Amino acid sequence: MKNISIYLTVFILFLTFVACQNENKKTNDPVEEKVQNLLSQMTLEEKLGQLVQTNYGGEPDNWKEQLVNGKIGSFLNLSGVEHANELQRIAVEESRLGIPLLIGRDVIHGFKTIFPIPLGMASAWSPEYAEGAMAIAAREASAYGINWTFAPMIDVTWDPRWGRIAETSGEDPYLTSVLGAAMVKGFQGEDPTEDGRIAACAKHFVGYGMSEAGRDYNTTYIPETKLRNVHLRPFKAAADAGCLTFMSAFNDLNGVPTSGNYYTLQTILRDEWNYNGMVVSDWASIEQQIIHGYTETPKDAALSSIVAGVDMEMASRTYDNLGELLAEGKITEELINERVANILRVKFKMGLFDNPYTDETYQNTRVLTNESLDYARKVARGSMVLLKNEEQTLPLKKSQKVALIGPLTNAPHDQMGTWVFDGDEKNSITPLTAFTEILGNKLNYAVGLEYSRDKSKAGFAAAIAAAKKSDVIVFIGGEESSLSGEANCRAVLNLPGIQDELLNELSKLGKPLVLVVMAGRPLGIGEQIAQADAVLYAWHPGTMAGPALTDLIFGDYSPSGKLPVTFVKGAGQIPLYYYHKNTGKPTDPNNMILIDDIPRNSKQLSLGFTSFHIDYGIDPLFPFGYGLTYTTFEYSDVTLSSNQLAMDGSIEATCTITNTGNCTADEIVQLYVRDLFGSITRPVKELKGFKKITLEPGESKVVSFTVSPNDLEFHNGEKYVIEPGKFHLWIAKDAASGEYEEFSLDSAI
Ligand code: NOJ
Repeated sequence: MKNISIYLTVFILFLTFVACQNENKKTNDPVEEKVQNLLSQMTLEEKLGQLVQTNYGGEPDNWKEQLVNGKIGSFLNLSGVEHANELQRIAVEESRLGIPLLIGRDVIHGFKTIFPIPLGMASAWSPEYAEGAMAIAAREASAYGINWTFAPMIDVTWDPRWGRIAETSGEDPYLTSVLGAAMVKGFQGEDPTEDGRIAACAKHFVGYGMSEAGRDYNTTYIPETKLRNVHLRPFKAAADAGCLTFMSAFNDLNGVPTSGNYYTLQTILRDEWNYNGMVVSDWASIEQQIIHGYTETPKDAALSSIVAGVDMEMASRTYDNLGELLAEGKITEELINERVANILRVKFKMGLFDNPYTDETYQNTRVLTNESLDYARKVARGSMVLLKNEEQTLPLKKSQKVALIGPLTNAPHDQMGTWVFDGDEKNSITPLTAFTEILGNKLNYAVGLEYSRDKSKAGFAAAIAAAKKSDVIVFIGGEESSLSGEANCRAVLNLPGIQDELLNELSKLGKPLVLVVMAGRPLGIGEQIAQADAVLYAWHPGTMAGPALTDLIFGDYSPSGKLPVTFVKGAGQIPLYYYHKNTGKPTDPNNMILIDDIPRNSKQLSLGFTSFHIDYGIDPLFPFGYGLTYTTFEYSDVTLSSNQLAMDGSIEATCTITNTGNCTADEIVQLYVRDLFGSITRPVKELKGFKKITLEPGESKVVSFTVSPNDLEFHNGEKYVIEPGKFHLWIAKDAASGEYEEFSLDSAI
């Protein structure tokens, strides 16, 4: 809080500047003119009302008076279109200035049609799917009167213990940026006033994915270089994509809670990026500054956040103190005007003043349509990652007798994953339904364990009997949906309950064993993977889990997903991510002495002086970008158009990919670059591009990427720089394979 008066002075100067800017905008920006015009008619009470976002929990009448008096700017968790229309009607027709409401909801990976969890969607590496899925989510949600979602979540994380990894696009800032921007476009369209679009919200600003120990809400310490080069990048991409709103986070960042963090909210977001959308706090995160030990009273908390840059307060009511703070001269009315303007701007840009109501027939015609369900099936299919397929165990033949076993075989609720406020398990098609449809009486079903944490062996005998009379075993296990998501963190990354014991029994039968994992996080299940002949990582695939799975299992399509996050062998390896630094003592994976090989009475330091764990070694369970298909792809002829990249130029990197197997499949081709030396040390690899191609058996395609100096930019702790020097470049199937080519970036322009 000590710095607050300095910030305040800086802020007032900034506001003067903004005021001048707004003057300029008045003449040529119609939205800005409307904002300023409305603002000029508002009383202080009406202005403060716009900053309030209330959780809808009571009867409409409870809110009526407040709405009539313009005391609420937004609701969250309001359900029912009739209800939404009624509250909009009161706000628009009965309040003095008729300002419509923002009606927000967590529409995270679908509304009624549930798509895979975001980490699953990210495994498709498809901006097209991300946009398409969120466009459907927006259309369905808007049919219920919702005009604002709290998505996309674009926090970067490399901690699978963190329950919210399920909601992320994984560990990579580039992939997260591309997918985040695509999701923003899906929600908002080219023009957010279009029918069926809703406002997006980039969250959680910023650094929340680094919660210490993967424990939700925990403290984060992120140095400037990592903040800039990793965590801020997806948010910049979202801002550039026109994301109308941002959400400040729960976490304390380097000692300052992110919902009262002037540096991130004002200096970076507003001053550097010129962002003019609105910032909403996370749930009561303004008030929580008191619990963090940063502000002493609700009034201090309000002062901290209003000055730092939070426009709208979600759930808590510390902003009720703003009138008093104004009277005491601690804040200015210009500051309040700026916050209100940010909110009104969004409402105008959404077209809510012209079109506040929702056609109540849409809820019957726009949700769960055949097209939406087909799309959900396609996205779910694309999101599943084939991790292992020995002896071409998969695909199965439809003539085979299959034992279907495991706690996620028929779990309509759990297959939807976390954050499905509006999804209904009645609409889920489970693997059991889909397998039954295809196999009829060739299917031998026995659940074995009722749910993922089940510790009763009562179902083991029936499961083993089903397996014995079948040609192949398909075990669908993993985690219930409630074991990931907000607050639901784990310290152990195993299959919960006694799934390992059942798998152990099944693996003794000598039948081909297919393991399908539905989970909200990457699990460290090396032993179970070793026992299985084939492993398909399905995440929580959503409504269409069953058909999407059988599409792949029976070979109508080849799997094509690739991991958006490194799989660790166990929690002890965390953090392990592909863009780590080299260290001064990197390990040669072929030259490590592991725990069982250490001779007795070895002397200290006899293992070599390199960086690895004596039990896990250095490799992950699976690297970032990894994923198999039913065919094989050969990468050859990686070529650069030149080995010299000029500061004002670009080079083309090409590679020939050939389908050397015998089925058609998609391949996600990845471009990585390493900057060998820098003014700060640089990661051993960074993803700079990717492309999805489809190849028939025997077909070859040349895939090309353009690399320009801007792709090589990074922040060195003081400023963004593009530094001349040597670089390595890979075009590869994952972050751990391929041979590099070298190029130099010239200093001369
Ligand atoms: C808290 C979560 O952190 C945030 O992601 C969500 O949007 C809000 N609650 C509203 O439900």
